[in-house]
Amino acid sequence: MTKLSVNINKIATLRNARGGDNPNLLSVALDCERFGAQGITVHPRPDERHIRYSDVRELKPRLTTEFNIEGFPSKEFCDLVCEVKPTQVTLVPDKPGQLTSDHGWDTGKDAPFLSDVVAEFHKHDIRVSIFIDANAEAAQGAASLGADRVELYTEPYARLYAQSPEEAAKPFLQTAQVVKSLGLGLNAGHDLSLQNLAFLHQQIPWLDEVSIGHALICDALYMGLEETIRKYLNCLR
Ligand code: PXP
Repeated sequence: MTKLSVNINKIATLRNARGGDNPNLLSVALDCERFGAQGITVHPRPDERHIRYSDVRELKPRLTTEFNIEGFPSKEFCDLVCEVKPTQVTLVPDKPGQLTSDHGWDTGKDAPFLSDVVAEFHKHDIRVSIFIDANAEAAQGAASLGADRVELYTEPYARLYAQSPEEAAKPFLQTAQVVKSLGLGLNAGHDLSLQNLAFLHQQIPWLDEVSIGHALICDALYMGLEETIRKYLNCLR
């Protein structure tokens, strides 16, 4: 079964816009779980422009599904993750001020740094996923580092999907087969939506998890959170 992890960064963006506590991030996370999401994802950035470190600490003891914390493994980030001990940490190679993640790791060049980080998280029994582009070498590098999973960066799939779903999915399917042969778990995320999710899942039914934020929260404006989550779950059946 492919799990749906709802990324709640946008809820924190909305809350922060007015400086108060509306919407309440914890309530929304618990409602996502109640509506069927099998995981919650957050991406605390150094400037805390959406998720704050305090949010991460508040969420962990209350969530009953898989908690996934993603981000660049700075010292502050690693300390937070080791303190909070989520189900999974997803390592992303983004710079401090970056708008959103836009590429995967170079698991060859960055291997010395990443393998130390992976070992540290494993000492705390935290599953480690490495964000990569759809590329067999990157997957092999992630396996050599001792990662448990990779997350495929799906923006290029989403972009090409309108022109040709098959062509768009091809490199992802090829990489997913390599990932499977390496014995790694497989996640996917970025720009997945109600338009393109079902086809990706059909092509790669052994996906362990998709993490979805932007499109899901946009859809919820029109359909409500419960109906929206139901529709995303349907894409994964
Ligand atoms: N995976 C990673 C590593 C991300 O950085 C993001 C965006 O925060 C997502 C998945 C979710 O992407 P989207 O918001 O486009 O669904």
